[in-house]
Amino acid sequence: MSEYKRYLVTSALPYANGPVHIGHLAGVYVPADIYVRYLRMCGKEVFFVGGSDEHGVPITIKARKQGCSPQDIVDKYHKLIKESFEELGISFDIYSRTSSKIHHKTSSEFFEKLYKEGKFIEKESEQYYDEQAHQFLADRYIVGTCPKCGAEGAYGDQCEKCGCTLSPDELINPHSALSGNAPIKKKTKHWYLPLDQYEPWLREWILEGHKEWKTNVYGQCKSWLDGGLLPRAVSRDLDWGVPVPVEGAEGKVLYVWFDAPIGYISNTIEARPDDWEKWWKSEDTKMVHFIGKDNIVFHCIVFPSMLKAYGDGYILPDNVPANEFLNLEGDKISTSRNWAVWLHEYLREMPGKQDMLRYVLCANAPETKDNDFTWKDFQSRCNSELVAIYGNFVNRAIVLTHKYFDGKVPADAAPDAIDRQTLEQVGVIKARLSDALENYKFREAVKEAMNLARLGNKYLTETEPWKVAKSDMDRCASILRTSLKICVDLAIAFAPFTPFSTEKLLGMLNLPKDVLKWDNLGNHDILTEGHQLEKAELLFAKVEDDVIQAQLDKLAATKQANLKEAAANAIPAPVEPQKSECTFEDFEKMDIRTATVLEAERVPKTDKLLKLTIDTGIDKRVIVSGIAQYYTPEEMVGKQISILANLAPRKIRGIESKGMILMARQSDGKMRFITPAERLDNGATIG
Ligand code: MF3
Ligand code: ZN
Repeated sequence: MSEYKRYLVTSALPYANGPVHIGHLAGVYVPADIYVRYLRMCGKEVFFVGGSDEHGVPITIKARKQGCSPQDIVDKYHKLIKESFEELGISFDIYSRTSSKIHHKTSSEFFEKLYKEGKFIEKESEQYYDEQAHQFLADRYIVGTCPKCGAEGAYGDQCEKCGCTLSPDELINPHSALSGNAPIKKKTKHWYLPLDQYEPWLREWILEGHKEWKTNVYGQCKSWLDGGLLPRAVSRDLDWGVPVPVEGAEGKVLYVWFDAPIGYISNTIEARPDDWEKWWKSEDTKMVHFIGKDNIVFHCIVFPSMLKAYGDGYILPDNVPANEFLNLEGDKISTSRNWAVWLHEYLREMPGKQDMLRYVLCANAPETKDNDFTWKDFQSRCNSELVAIYGNFVNRAIVLTHKYFDGKVPADAAPDAIDRQTLEQVGVIKARLSDALENYKFREAVKEAMNLARLGNKYLTETEPWKVAKSDMDRCASILRTSLKICVDLAIAFAPFTPFSTEKLLGMLNLPKDVLKWDNLGNHDILTEGHQLEKAELLFAKVEDDVIQAQLDKLAATKQANLKEAAANAIPAPVEPQKSECTFEDFEKMDIRTATVLEAERVPKTDKLLKLTIDTGIDKRVIVSGIAQYYTPEEMVGKQISILANLAPRKIRGIESKGMILMARQSDGKMRFITPAERLDNGATIG
């Protein structure tokens, strides 16, 4: 492993305006936790920082909607998030919050130093202001149409539809999220971090110095840098956040993305007041940021520039292993649509299944591309991997030891080549597993851990101790001894991924926790002859169909509720105004009838035209109709339609068309033909 003395591992501070869901877990917290658990087992000095991000506009909007204070909101969610992380076994060394005193002090002083050293640009500009609410409209307080994709409801900082970053001035038809009014522009002063000045340094540091970063991370950095960096405002007109510590800055707070990453520092100080600096200011420390892809620019460009500007020995991240996004059952996870699996609900509804979630989210983590979580896949991974491979092997080894040797570790009485060869494989798997973990390839890593269990099962299948026991107890002893060695290896290898099961397995093996050292993986001297095992228990309980169905039903209900709400909120489509009056005689002139399509084909070299042969009851005739965008020829054949039969014939593309098909124009511009509700005679006149 690398030459660093200690590891500072951070995981993105989740906003305390809602619970944590599986997307957060798969993207950030599960991989970060696996990494630190591995490092600790390697005997490394590690500090794992977490905490809640409690500032920013969305929290104030939520508070306003619920008629409470922002502090009430963050108190509620900080507690919920902290407790559910704990229950899932995310092993933070500290989980604190950015509304803490120490964070206010740390981030305020951080700003102040940069301010005093002239590292900011001070600039007055015109910004949107809501005259009714008497408030500047920062970030999400301003909404409008996205200039990139045309979606309504894009925010002043981002369009959630297409994911692009925006500034308020780019919004089309901007209006206030507070009053709905069109805002006015008003002068206001803010401080900017001149990122453009750091560009050459960033190019060198990242593009030259960190070619080993994940391609998604490196690529995003490169495209930001190639696009040219601009000064970024680090303050906002808002009454929730860390006040800007400058005279005359009343009513202004630090921008949430300025104070939040400093939260990593504040939280370290809170936990380690006496030696926090060795974590942040020593070249011996390797800092790694675990984040989701939407955080890349802040962790690779903005925060490093802040640290660089600050100087004073602050280190920069050695790596930023950002993940992509996890979808749920084919749809983007969305808080507003309640399309998510919420951690606190999972823990309540699936008690004792923490490791299963950890395992599946790791095995299916969106490491290189967005990925999909489905409950069926969850069930099959749990049952056919955790239960059927890992759990099954362990169970067989321990049960057989009880059966033949009263649960005492037998002597290696009659060793064989296959034992040695199998145990040698452990070393090969270990090397691959360690390598994957050190390179942030957690999917690959967990696969290797499972390969170890596969190795065990294969060994048992080949050696068949239950058969050997009938004739050769010495050989049976060696086989079970070897199998138990693999059980110990499994407890160690799986410890970073599924710590609760490792604990359970150690219990069955009657081993103390301190065997959980990475060095002990492949050290086959841990179990001594005669060592008494505990009773075998199932390592994992099977995930039953009804449990999965309940989750699917819950999601279906959510979908239904969303559809209902969308229908209730739908704006009725504009309807064309009524045409000017006509007389009954006018109407009577028109011969409208039912007919059936007999044949349909595209008119060659056109996009729009279909040539239809129809049975009008009077005759069989050809009509050319501009409906090829809306219907395929196959769809048309056999359909009963309505026609205007006596429209004067016209030649279209050299084909004589006699009559016209009656079509209804939909609000989206699509044309649909009118078909009778029941099958009618062809040629029935309508009127
Ligand atoms: N709250 C942010 C998010 O959920 C992450 C903040 S990370 C930090 O996207 F570095 F700023 F703390
Ligand atoms: Zn958009």
